[in-house]
Amino acid sequence: MKLAVVGSINMDMTVTAERIPGKGETLRGDSVSSIPGGKGANQAVAMAKLGAEVEMFGCVGDDGNGETLLENLKRAGVKTDHIRVLKGVPTGIAMITVAENDNTIVVVPGANGKVDRGYADSIREELAQYDMVVLQHEIPLDTVYYLVELCHGMGIPVVLNPAPAAAMPEKIVEMVTYLTPNEHEAVLIFGEGQKTEEMLRKYPEKLVITQGSRGVVTCLKNGEILCVPARKSAVVDTTGAGDTLNGAFCVRICAGDDIRAALTYANTAAGLSTEKFGAQSGMPSAAEVGRELQRR
Ligand code: RIB
Repeated sequence: MKLAVVGSINMDMTVTAERIPGKGETLRGDSVSSIPGGKGANQAVAMAKLGAEVEMFGCVGDDGNGETLLENLKRAGVKTDHIRVLKGVPTGIAMITVAENDNTIVVVPGANGKVDRGYADSIREELAQYDMVVLQHEIPLDTVYYLVELCHGMGIPVVLNPAPAAAMPEKIVEMVTYLTPNEHEAVLIFGEGQKTEEMLRKYPEKLVITQGSRGVVTCLKNGEILCVPARKSAVVDTTGAGDTLNGAFCVRICAGDDIRAALTYANTAAGLSTEKFGAQSGMPSAAEVGRELQRR
């Protein structure tokens, strides 16, 4: 099973505070850390921790953050041979506030913004060797859509996690194998006023909507609406929980699980990931998820 992620690689500058500050408010924080992140890199690390063979594709800058992040991916067991190091461009940075069992994130894309069609063309032959290509919205949308079309043309299954939120052409929804928005992202894609159930019924076993602490929902091919409730967790930091869910889901689908089993597994992995600080540090191994599933 071989998975490719084309996406963002960020350094997360994470501040913890008692609560999320309001508009115009200055608040005293408790701690500040710089830790590896980026939705693409997080999903690749989640997959590697679960034992998958995974390659990360994208760009970093020729700065200290870029170096640290490449090293971090390698240490996690993620292949990095085709990541471009761009001269004179800063590596992507995310400013994160962690508080109240939640977070806020502002991303400055830097090198992630340079993942363009030219880069996509340069990795096309590589991608053809993978069983699944996984994408998010933290590289230019033009490139995301180009990659969806490219993979669709080559018959490679694509999972698109449309985060951060953006509207999406219907033909892209049609071309992806799985689309995994949260509720807010789903509204932007399918329009306001549509009930979750209506959206799900339109795309059975393709559309998977994550609902945070409530869990995840999809519609099975037999018309049943499947709700997989979230695991009850002693939450320390929810950053990267969605990435863990996406990574684990892709790994289990590639391993041949049906969607119910894959989502149950992914939800458990995501719940476990929230019990440690940082996007990647709490991501569980396959053995940890296995133990937790047995315990339940
Ligand atoms: O999904 C969490 C990630 O979003 C963080 O690691 C941050 O880098 C942002 O990209």
